[in-house]
Amino acid sequence: MEAELQALVQQAEAEQDAVSTWPKLADFKAGFVGPNGSLTAASKGIAKLPKEEKPAFGKKINEAKQRLEAVFNAITERIEAAELAARLGPPVDPTLPVADAHGTEHPLTQVRERITGIFRKIGFTVVEGQELETEFYCFDALNTPASHPARDMQDTYFLPGDFQLQGEKRRDTESFILRPHTSAVQIRTMTGRKPPVRILSPGRCFRRDTVDATHSANFHQVEGLYVDTDVTIRDLKALLDHFVKELFGADAKTRFRPSFFPFTEPSFEMDVQTSNLRKLSGKWIEIMGCGMVDPNVFGHVDYDSEEVSGFAFGMGIERIAMILHGIDDIRHFYQNDLRFLQQFPGA
Ligand code: PHE
Repeated sequence: MEAELQALVQQAEAEQDAVSTWPKLADFKAGFVGPNGSLTAASKGIAKLPKEEKPAFGKKINEAKQRLEAVFNAITERIEAAELAARLGPPVDPTLPVADAHGTEHPLTQVRERITGIFRKIGFTVVEGQELETEFYCFDALNTPASHPARDMQDTYFLPGDFQLQGEKRRDTESFILRPHTSAVQIRTMTGRKPPVRILSPGRCFRRDTVDATHSANFHQVEGLYVDTDVTIRDLKALLDHFVKELFGADAKTRFRPSFFPFTEPSFEMDVQTSNLRKLSGKWIEIMGCGMVDPNVFGHVDYDSEEVSGFAFGMGIERIAMILHGIDDIRHFYQNDLRFLQQFPGA
């Protein structure tokens, strides 16, 4: 009977490699330890043995059971490992170069680069402003009186606390704010720098807007500033005409409507019309604010408005991107949904 136990353990060990699935393992186990299994049958022999031989035989049965358990466990581990390997696919070598999974620039970055690229080619320099600004640079120096609605808490994020901005010309009553427009860059650029000035400044802006399809509390603008001797509205118009033709195509036309900004006089809203924009083709679309720099602004940066003149313009990058690509909801830009982002593979 002992030989019988030996034989069935050896049989299990010899056959285990062929057991490669869960159903096969269940059958295999049943063949030994199930109600009709060979170990179950062999163990029944204990009943016929004389009393004194029973303990020794019982021990042998237990040993055989343990060796079978070891075989079952080894099979279980092997099937689990095979399943895991099948799920993970072929082994990954992290040191290999990435085949086809490189990212792309965000559509807003791409549009920003297109805009700045057009102006770079004609002598503009790109400068970085700062997102944390002061009331002075965003409003006072831009000829914006304290009563102006943009200074209202409803529009602008005021930051409590005492910050010391780098290179700051502190004033006693200074309040810090998240800049509601990029126009502060005009002042920072002209302060301590002699004309001519030809700059473009893209960057993030903040306004207390309720988010919907066309508003975001966090958005991007591009500011432009050109100051030199004898700069006229003709120069402003010629430059912006050139810009829209480069951006929207040779048939793009501009239209200037009178408007108001505290820091430009006269001020305009500029519209563009082109046949190259699917749904918007042929329609006049407002794309930016602009105007001749107000002499009071020059006064804040020690420029002599008898000697120099200039113009400034500002546009929203999201708005330009939405027009160019026919995007109907500003929120798409911030949700990082690959189904959206993959539609802008870039250059
Ligand atoms: N800063 C203005 C805005 O946010 C745009 C503008 C910039 C207008 C420069 C005129 C000149 O609406």
